[in-house]
Amino acid sequence: MDAKHSDDVYGRARVQDSDELKTYYKELENLGAGALWTVANDIEPWEPRANSVPMLWKYDDLRALVLKSSELVTPEQAGRRVVYLVNDKRKDVAAAVGWLYTGIQVTRPGEFTSAHRHRASALRFIMEGEKGYTVVDGNKIMLEVNDFVITPNSTWHEHGVEEGGKTCIWQDGLDIPLVNALEANDYAVLEGKQELTAPLNYSPVAYGCAGLIPADKVWDKPYSPLFKYSWSNVYPALLEAEKVSEINPFDGVFMKYSNPLTGGHVMQTMGASMQLLPAGFKGKSHKHTGSFVYQCAKGKGYSIINGQRFDWTARDIFCVPSWAWHEHHNLSESEDACLFAFNDLPVIEKLGLYQEKEYSENNGFQFYN
Ligand SMILES: [Fe+2]
Ligand SMILES: [Fe+2]
Repeated sequence: MDAKHSDDVYGRARVQDSDELKTYYKELENLGAGALWTVANDIEPWEPRANSVPMLWKYDDLRALVLKSSELVTPEQAGRRVVYLVNDKRKDVAAAVGWLYTGIQVTRPGEFTSAHRHRASALRFIMEGEKGYTVVDGNKIMLEVNDFVITPNSTWHEHGVEEGGKTCIWQDGLDIPLVNALEANDYAVLEGKQELTAPLNYSPVAYGCAGLIPADKVWDKPYSPLFKYSWSNVYPALLEAEKVSEINPFDGVFMKYSNPLTGGHVMQTMGASMQLLPAGFKGKSHKHTGSFVYQCAKGKGYSIINGQRFDWTARDIFCVPSWAWHEHHNLSESEDACLFAFNDLPVIEKLGLYQEKEYSENNGFQFYN
């Protein structure tokens, strides 16, 4: 929340209405046109403006209802059994924040979804369960809690849980609202299951080990060849990084999931990160463009977003809208806390729209509740 800029200044639209102008506006309207100065200040805000509001979705509140969906509808009926999380101000586009969609999907042992693909990109963050798997473009990959998985734009994918496993619940993240806003989405269903074209876990084993990549293979896709980022690698890496890194005052030990071939974002439209907030960490406040959906992977703490405090613990999901002041705090003095997040930064950055501001008494105000 910033002090309001006045529009009553040179360079901004400040035309006083008159009967003659009103008639003129009507004439334009009848021709499918309008006078820019009547809308200019609204469509060209002084600073980035988010339509979304900060929100927190408590897993304790939602879990029973997510599980209930697995009694009410079958995967065959629903396609995917998902409870989606929708921002109070983005219901019209089914977005959790900005142009990002998120949902919580449940799959019981022995169940699987239809194989399908869409122009929207998707990612998953595993919340609970055992022996869950995904098949992405013929690569079958086993999933464990806190693993991060990608299904990029137009890759065939299907998911399931092996017989003898435990009911799996994971968070889906997609850029559906963005791709729909660009009027470019599509969807296709595959008859039957995908043919497996690689040995089990090929992608994470071939591209996710020790910084090695296959030297005799060419990967020419515009997304990461590493489809799964294992918590069993990620968490130890964060602990090691904590020992040798300068702690980021806003984000603690702050790591981006990256395409191992380029060091860039994992997909063309969505990026993701994992951050470790050391015990007792009290983050400084800043704001930047880009929309963010967080899930607490470990620990407990709170975030203050545009002056409102949101307390989170493992599996809770919350969002930070573009240009919202935010700061993260670990409530424990002895345990670290970890926050997974996905975002639209690849788009924001490629379009030259990223900007960031550190909070100070002079450029904004925070109130706490
Ligand atoms: Fe999908
Ligand atoms: Fe931030």
